[in-house]
Amino acid sequence: MTTKKQGHAQWSSSFGFVLAAVGSAVGLGNIWKFPYMVGENGGAAFVIAYLFCIALIGFPILVAEWLIGRRGQKNPINSFEDVARQDGKTKAWGIVGASGILGAFLILSFYSVIGGWALNYTLKAVTGGFVGQDSGAIETIFTGMLADPQVLTMWHTIFMVLTAIIVAIGVASGIEKAAKILMPLLGVILVVIVGYNIINGGFIDAVEYMFSPDLSKLTGEGGDKVLLEALGHAFFTLSLGMGIMVAYGSYLGKEVNLFKTARTVVILDTVIALVAGLAIFPIIFSNGLDPNAGPGLVFVSLPIAFGSMTGGTLIGTLFFLLITFAALTSSISLLEPSVELLEERTPMNRTMSAVVASLAIWALGIAALLSFNVWDKVFIFGNNIFDFLDNLTGKIMLPLTGLMAIIFVGWVLNQKSIKEELNLSEGMWSLWMIVSRFVAPIGVIIVFINSIISLVS
Ligand code: PHE
Repeated sequence: MTTKKQGHAQWSSSFGFVLAAVGSAVGLGNIWKFPYMVGENGGAAFVIAYLFCIALIGFPILVAEWLIGRRGQKNPINSFEDVARQDGKTKAWGIVGASGILGAFLILSFYSVIGGWALNYTLKAVTGGFVGQDSGAIETIFTGMLADPQVLTMWHTIFMVLTAIIVAIGVASGIEKAAKILMPLLGVILVVIVGYNIINGGFIDAVEYMFSPDLSKLTGEGGDKVLLEALGHAFFTLSLGMGIMVAYGSYLGKEVNLFKTARTVVILDTVIALVAGLAIFPIIFSNGLDPNAGPGLVFVSLPIAFGSMTGGTLIGTLFFLLITFAALTSSISLLEPSVELLEERTPMNRTMSAVVASLAIWALGIAALLSFNVWDKVFIFGNNIFDFLDNLTGKIMLPLTGLMAIIFVGWVLNQKSIKEELNLSEGMWSLWMIVSRFVAPIGVIIVFINSIISLVS
């Protein structure tokens, strides 16, 4: 640290940045999605695949996206175009930014539906709705919610309106400041639930389930599916492949060390997901529930614990309130790219842009939530609408967009200036070259090709 004043200025800018990036990364992906994906994909084998994808693919792509944004200093499309042009390359690279914006648009439509579930459960928890209920009754509460399109629509609407208001009046930075207190609190509550589990049983089973892998699940039949799920989730949970991190990178000062910052974000995001698993699976095992229950996993398991623990009403209310909050800090980052695009490329002002983008996303979300009830027989390529949106983005769009970002940084741009920008030791730079040019892109390509082969064969 140099003079006190400078030191402080640097600290506060990179700290604010870390908060915003963690706010986007930590969300429903960690607490709702990660645990049920572990359950659907056979436990520890998925966890191992996921950790590899995070370290060898997610981390370098996060650095690459920030680097592009910091150089371009604009929205994702223009950042890709300008950075390409600076190095004498075609501005067609802007398409990568555009595909990211579309990805964020599609994701928010179903993300908001789940954000609505979290809001609904906050209300149920505060009114003591889980107290004294057995696991069967709690499952019925969940299936009852899914079966009711009006209830789902109401909460999805409230969640989407909240997101739109925050983005329209541009208070996202205030929200991110609140995250400074609320995110650690979420961490504390998760740890409290883990503590409850250690006392109440199922904990050892859960640890074994999550961390003692049967590797034949990766190498044997169906292993390609597990790998593709792990890859897609690595992108989803780190908010990659959508231009969101490119946009955030455009606010980054040159003094910020991209590697260290990425390390902080990746570690926090991963730890929260793993702790969420340890909060949920013991309850699943000690109550004889099925880990393979899909998207309802967290909404069925934790209320059982809240219903029987001392202070469960308070802890349950806080828990669902805090995941709603974590979901909002992610959803504002998902809405922002579409709003920014409309604002810059049409005559509409910010408020109008937020209204129009949110309405379109909201309407698509209605289609997604109907797939839990009246449209449960409507399939697109064998998936209901909710799963179709989830699979299209997570398994195809995000990995492809991320792949293009890392190829752009590893192969297309002038390496000399990247070396200066990353400011790594010689050893680390060689490692970065190997990972950014070979390991990460080839990893994505192999997982893809494998899955396509298994689809057609
Ligand atoms: N990363 C967020 C989560 O884990 C979801 C998200 C995805 C947010 C993409 C922004 C962009 O919940």
